[in-house]
Amino acid sequence: MANLDLLRKRIAEIDRDLAERLPALTDPAGLESFRVEFLGRKGRIAGLFKLIGEIDPESRAEAGSLLNALKKKATEAVAAREKELSDVHLEERLASERVDVTLPGVYRKLGHLHPLTIVQREVESIFMRMGFDLATGPEIETEYHNFEALNIPADHPARDEWDTFYIDDTHLLRPHTSPVQIRVMKETSPPVRVICPGRCYRRDAQDATHSPVFHQVEMLWVEEGLSLTNLKYVLEAFTKEFFGEGYEMRFSGDFFPFTEPSVQVHVKAPGSSDWLEIMGAGMVDPAVLTEVGYDPEAVTGFAFGLGVERMAMLRYGIGDIRTFLTNDLRFITQF
Ligand code: PHE
Repeated sequence: MANLDLLRKRIAEIDRDLAERLPALTDPAGLESFRVEFLGRKGRIAGLFKLIGEIDPESRAEAGSLLNALKKKATEAVAAREKELSDVHLEERLASERVDVTLPGVYRKLGHLHPLTIVQREVESIFMRMGFDLATGPEIETEYHNFEALNIPADHPARDEWDTFYIDDTHLLRPHTSPVQIRVMKETSPPVRVICPGRCYRRDAQDATHSPVFHQVEMLWVEEGLSLTNLKYVLEAFTKEFFGEGYEMRFSGDFFPFTEPSVQVHVKAPGSSDWLEIMGAGMVDPAVLTEVGYDPEAVTGFAFGLGVERMAMLRYGIGDIRTFLTNDLRFITQF
């Protein structure tokens, strides 16, 4: 027959086990089996509750309250240890996952447009604001569009300069964008107002201002009543808009089979003494207008072919045309 003293003794044992064994537990699995051993449905404390029925009736109330206190104490102690363990675990995780926010970040460099693309797009946008349309033509061009239609017959000495890089007997890499004039005029009737950007090829030896691969923007305006005065106005408005104040422009006489009269245009950067030729230009030759089916008595026109590399050299103060193509990052990242 159990009595209160025996119960007290058992309670004291459990008390001691709680105090000794709990702090030694370090992992959640160990803690869980400890909890089952003491607080489970068939655990040691539940076993003591079963003894209540065997205790003298007058002592049962006291036994009940002693056991309730034990159960409460054990439950709290297990919960407290559980929290301690998870705090330790958290600290370990924080230590191992520590991020040094003072380290430099990982970043990707943004690319940007090549200076030639910047200049070409700017030329396009200036002329588009003036009401010009954009047109393009093939880089592999026919002899007809590149020469004959531009009033350069097979035996003409002007061919020599452009007579280069043939693909077969009748096709060549275009040495200028002027054949696009022919293609545009054959497709439309006046008024015509276009700019035609594109890559060109010549057998020029490479030096500071020449490259066998380069870019031009062609301009063509054909309408009733246009004269050289209009061409000069357009050129002045354009160079002023593109370069801003301080740049000087000069015209001199030139010869192109497809313009009459013909001029070349030079520009000088502020503070520089060097004039750089940026384009050939002129009034469209009546023979060209006739070739495309226009009436040279009814309409006149003018055109130019602008060197994009040279515009960029003047704008950015670049001394050597070759730097555009060498892909040297020290150069290219400056724009
Ligand atoms: N196509 C000529 C060249 O490349 C330039 C030019 C274009 C001249 C239009 C007059 C008119 O040199």
